[in-house]
Amino acid sequence: MGKVTVEIDGKKLVADVGSMIIEVADEANITIPRFCYHKKLSVAANCRMCMVDVASLPKAVPACATPVADGMVIQTQSARAIEAQKSVMEFLLINHPLDCPVCDQGGECELQDLSIGYGEDVSRYVEGKRVVKNKNLGPLISTDMTRCIHCTRCVRFGQ
Ligand code: FES
Repeated sequence: MGKVTVEIDGKKLVADVGSMIIEVADEANITIPRFCYHKKLSVAANCRMCMVDVASLPKAVPACATPVADGMVIQTQSARAIEAQKSVMEFLLINHPLDCPVCDQGGECELQDLSIGYGEDVSRYVEGKRVVKNKNLGPLISTDMTRCIHCTRCVRFGQ
């Protein structure tokens, strides 16, 4: 398999042609926030939490769905990357009750973990929150649809 050289947050890295930015970053222990990406599942790229800043591109791009190219310079913590990640978090939380500290998930929640780093403690969305009935996805998956952020990981896992 061919190789390319890229730079992520100043680290020069060699990666296989066709790898996604998030895979190369994970391999190098560089943290990129994510919800829908899971290395054992197909790539859906629908949460947009993994936005990163690629020097040659005009806008932040999702790291889980952007393949590396030779000479790519990627930043995960630049002002543009952080702004994109925080904006996505704000959208993901539009319909989410902002009660993270007292939520019954009690720390077992990736959304809660990331909202501490990227979320605001006060939402600009004051409209009523949506309530969604739970779905039966079989014995292996329990659902709490009111808190769903449409990452579709449960759907892809089920498939
Ligand atoms: S992790 Fe990349 S879009 Fe969801």
